[in-house]
Amino acid sequence: MVRIGLIGCGYWGPNLVRNLAELEEADLAVVADVDASKVRKLTRRYPFLRGTEDPGEILRDAAIEAVVIATPAETHFDLARRALEAGKHVLVEKPLAMNPDESRRLAELADRTGLTLMVGHTFEYNPAVRRLKALAREEAFGKTRYIYSTRVNLGIFRPEINAMWNLAPHDLSILFYLLDEAPVSVIALGKAFLKPGVEDVVFLYLEFPSGAVAHVHVSWLDPSKVRRLTVVGEKRMAVYDDLDSEQKLKLYDRGLESTLFVDGGIQDYQVRLRAGDILAPKIETTEPLRIECAHFIECVRDKKRPLTDGWSGHRVVAALAAADESLRAGGARTAVRVA
Ligand SMILES: NC(=O)c1ccc[n+]([C@@H]2O[C@H](COP(=O)([O-])OP(=O)(O)OC[C@H]3O[C@@H](n4cnc5c(N)ncnc54)[C@H](O)[C@@H]3O)[C@@H](O)[C@H]2O)c1
Repeated sequence: MVRIGLIGCGYWGPNLVRNLAELEEADLAVVADVDASKVRKLTRRYPFLRGTEDPGEILRDAAIEAVVIATPAETHFDLARRALEAGKHVLVEKPLAMNPDESRRLAELADRTGLTLMVGHTFEYNPAVRRLKALAREEAFGKTRYIYSTRVNLGIFRPEINAMWNLAPHDLSILFYLLDEAPVSVIALGKAFLKPGVEDVVFLYLEFPSGAVAHVHVSWLDPSKVRRLTVVGEKRMAVYDDLDSEQKLKLYDRGLESTLFVDGGIQDYQVRLRAGDILAPKIETTEPLRIECAHFIECVRDKKRPLTDGWSGHRVVAALAAADESLRAGGARTAVRVA
């Protein structure tokens, strides 16, 4: 069993606790939060847990092998660095850090120490997203032309980071996972309505080395909740709707194909429409966070590299930083430097 301490008992922390508590290979022993009331709430619900207001207590505890960090993004770098330096394996929530210099340092530190560093890119553990990737890789799907993703809702407003840093790590991690590549450039446009400097709505346009392009729309100022991603391939198309409990994934056997023709010395393109079946594949219903937590434990125990390791976290942070630069420059096309 892997003995674990968790830091951060706000909104997301209790979900991690619930999943870790049910994993046979995990021994969740202690939780910490600077807010004592949050700690009390969790230790009341899970009486076997020890609680503390001092995260340092977990980092100094020699019996703790792994630390799970679910605190606000601005605290991730410092807590993850201290945990790795204390010889602990780390599962840290997204985004890994608030700038690429810090995310690279964490990825390098994990490599140097041989410790597991995993980032909570939950959607890469989502059975619908995994199935989508498998389908989009098939010859019958054709090369991916473009992807667009919408992640909007009314709330939760976060005063410290904008909607992009809060919501887009999910879309970016899904895009990089589906395409197996990081973008070369990004254009970002957005607007702050509620608090100056903190954008409530952001539109991203990303270009990838393969020629694929993507668009991401995030907002916490929208009338209704949408979590939808569309992948347009050369031969097929797919829609992943996370809120559709019956048909999370739909595969469309349809498309437009163009062929060049020459007629009397004139060259033109003939475009043909193909409209075939729509298929809704059966998707496994295991909670993605359960799969994520189990993967972390497996990686720690078997010394395996996580699917969402420090470098995967760094790629997302590098793209977010480039997008932030573009936002400040009024939507200038900005290079994404991942190396
Ligand atoms: N993977 C997902 O789907 C998902 C979903 C929601 C949130 N998250 C991530 O989880 C993290 C936490 O988000 P949340 O919504 O739970 O935020 P939250 O504000 O509800 O909770 C954060 C908690 O951390 C505590 N805290 C702050 N600084 C601390 C420190 N230095 N040491 C110990 N405790 C500290 C706060 O008191 C608070 O209770 C964020 O990084 C967020 O992006 C991920």
